Amino acid sequence: MAARRTLVSASILDADLADLENEARKALKAGSNRIHLDVMDGHFVPNITFGPGLIKRLRCIGKKPFDAHLMISEPGRYMDQFIDAGCDSITFHVEVEEPIEPTLLKIRKAGRQAGLAVKPGTPLSALEPYRDLLDIVMVMTVEPGFGGQSFMRDAARKILPAHGYLADRVSGQVHVDGGVNRRSAALCGRLGAEVLVVGSTLWKKGHDIAREIALIKALADEGYRSGFGKTAVDPGEPG
Ligand code: DX5
Ligand code: ZN
Repeated sequence: MAARRTLVSASILDADLADLENEARKALKAGSNRIHLDVMDGHFVPNITFGPGLIKRLRCIGKKPFDAHLMISEPGRYMDQFIDAGCDSITFHVEVEEPIEPTLLKIRKAGRQAGLAVKPGTPLSALEPYRDLLDIVMVMTVEPGFGGQSFMRDAARKILPAHGYLADRVSGQVHVDGGVNRRSAALCGRLGAEVLVVGSTLWKKGHDIAREIALIKALADEGYRSGFGKTAVDPGEPG
């Protein structure tokens, strides 16, 4: 069997929040390559989750990469704390109304991967000024704020061109976040996404986490092998 290309970053947003340590361990044991941590401040998005203190505490589960996804209005103000918490990558939103470049530089200076996320309605051109500073471009395929929403195929069109905004095309990664499951994985792979953020489908009653992750990776890899660069997004395809 060919080596797997697509990585999964399990989002613990819809896991048992009272037992996050075990839930994160479970996701890694089931084949997740990374853990995706959704930080929300009730201001940038209409939901509140957790902060750097909880992430730091979760580091006890081991060395697998932690991806922080900051849906907060003032990432610059809290960046030292997220760096100190042991995040391997830190992604915040290009839509924030504060200077972005100094925060990206701070993340990189700390030796972590720096990323910017784009909401479904934001064009990739918003990333233009930060081209040389991005290790990660995170394409949101739902409106940020909640797990369990439907994958937006129109927003997925940005996955392929997002690669053009990475500082280094070899080590850089495009992450796709929102509504990724068995139905949308092949399209994400076909468009060349390196990391799929997978949330609610892992935690649904009756779902076997290991089976979901294996299927999603296999479908994405198959999409990449058979369709990368060949096929455009067909908005009529079932989502
Ligand atoms: C939504 C979060 C996502 C979410 C994904 O704002 O950024 O990471 O947890 O969950 P699903 O896979 O259910 O869309
Ligand atoms: Zn997220």
